[in-house]
Amino acid sequence: MTETIIRAKNVGYETENTLILKNINFEISKKDFVGIIGPNGAGKSTLIKILLGEIEGYTGDVEIRGKIGYVPQHDFIDKTFPISALEVVLMGLYKETGILRRFKKEHINRALEVMKILEIDKLKNRKVGKLSGGEYQRLMLSRALVSGPDILILDEPEAGVDKKGQKLFYNLMKKLNEEQGITVILVSHDISMIFSETNKVMCLNRTLHCHKNTSEMNRDDFKKIYSDSLEMLVHIDEPLKVVSRND
Ligand SMILES: Nc1ncnc2c1ncn2[C@@H]1O[C@H](COP(=O)(O)OP(=O)(O)O)[C@@H](O)[C@H]1O
Ligand SMILES: [Mg+2]
Repeated sequence: MTETIIRAKNVGYETENTLILKNINFEISKKDFVGIIGPNGAGKSTLIKILLGEIEGYTGDVEIRGKIGYVPQHDFIDKTFPISALEVVLMGLYKETGILRRFKKEHINRALEVMKILEIDKLKNRKVGKLSGGEYQRLMLSRALVSGPDILILDEPEAGVDKKGQKLFYNLMKKLNEEQGITVILVSHDISMIFSETNKVMCLNRTLHCHKNTSEMNRDDFKKIYSDSLEMLVHIDEPLKVVSRND
């Protein structure tokens, strides 16, 4: 039995007379690790903000059966701000601690526990501006995980991380998905990583052009979403390989 954790029914969104999203229907199961792909401006971040409840005025229905942890596309922490890594992770508990932000020992222990799993516990007193790209990425993931979410949503979390770091990061997400049963939804332009690590893919460009098992993706699925964009070159020879124009 697959257990549905997110359901979107006929979701649409329009702003300033511009259609951003239309006719979006999907179900995500608890065990899924979903990659969302689509060109710039396709509406990926908008769809995510609808799932998070951050956008009002959309049409259709969204049903979420669990707590969400979120890693935003553009981090909003000023890197010159003298805040420590531990303090950043504790930000993920504001909903519980309230705006007074009185952290108890229990909160700090939970933060350190997550940081340990992501191997950044030794950096707890390090100022955020002094972290490497990979460490910062794992810090953002720690902040999203500290509240114990059922669903993890990441919007292009790859900035400033090299290929090797990326692989480690995807392995971590896969582990969270497989071992802790956390549903993972990841927006990314790194199609080769999406292909090797996720089990479902959503192709979005204003509407959902495909939503299927990663192993069943084919050339037409790409054509539909990248048709007007020269961003991608797709080679369908086995195994399916995608090369970015910038490579
Ligand atoms: N608040 C807004 N007001 C007007 N247009 C917006 C707003 N937010 C997003 N858009 C537009 O919606 C489209 C989709 O944006 P976005 O969801 O950020 O796409 P993606 O994440 O796929 O790159 C873009 O054309 C963008 O300019
Ligand atoms: Mg975006």
